Amino acid sequence: MILNINNQEYNVKSSTETPLLWVLRDELGLLGTKYGCGIGVCGTCAVLIDGRAERSCIFPVSSLENSKIITIEGLSPEGLNKLQQAWVDIGVSQCGYCQPGQIITAQDLLNQKPNPTDDDIDTAMSNNICRCGTYNKIRQAIHLAAKG
Ligand code: FES
Ligand code: FES
Repeated sequence: MILNINNQEYNVKSSTETPLLWVLRDELGLLGTKYGCGIGVCGTCAVLIDGRAERSCIFPVSSLENSKIITIEGLSPEGLNKLQQAWVDIGVSQCGYCQPGQIITAQDLLNQKPNPTDDDIDTAMSNNICRCGTYNKIRQAIHLAAKG
């Protein structure tokens, strides 16, 4: 099966029912996408599928043959984009584990709403869990990126 990931075509050998998360991590070595709950609840495994943030732990790869998948590694292949730079400038990360999923979800939000309100941010990000409690800094970073 051929998957388009980060604008490259990969000939994937995993079984068609394998969740995308495990193809990324175990078969392709794209380790930026993290495993949290495995049941679509925490958001740490988010990737962009056709431009929208989706939970890679619950998507069998068989459903993705005609999709364009972007992982955190491919979000900005040439340096940091505005959102990633804002993340650095605000110093959002603590342990960092949830952050790839947070950034992917924030990118989806900015793609849909370039100037989100606090309510827009809270709604978009509410299902991405951060055990370190970086929520306020995530909000600040999204506003900073929107201004930039
Ligand atoms: S690991 Fe996919 S949503 Fe938690
Ligand atoms: S930064 Fe540690 S879980 Fe979010």
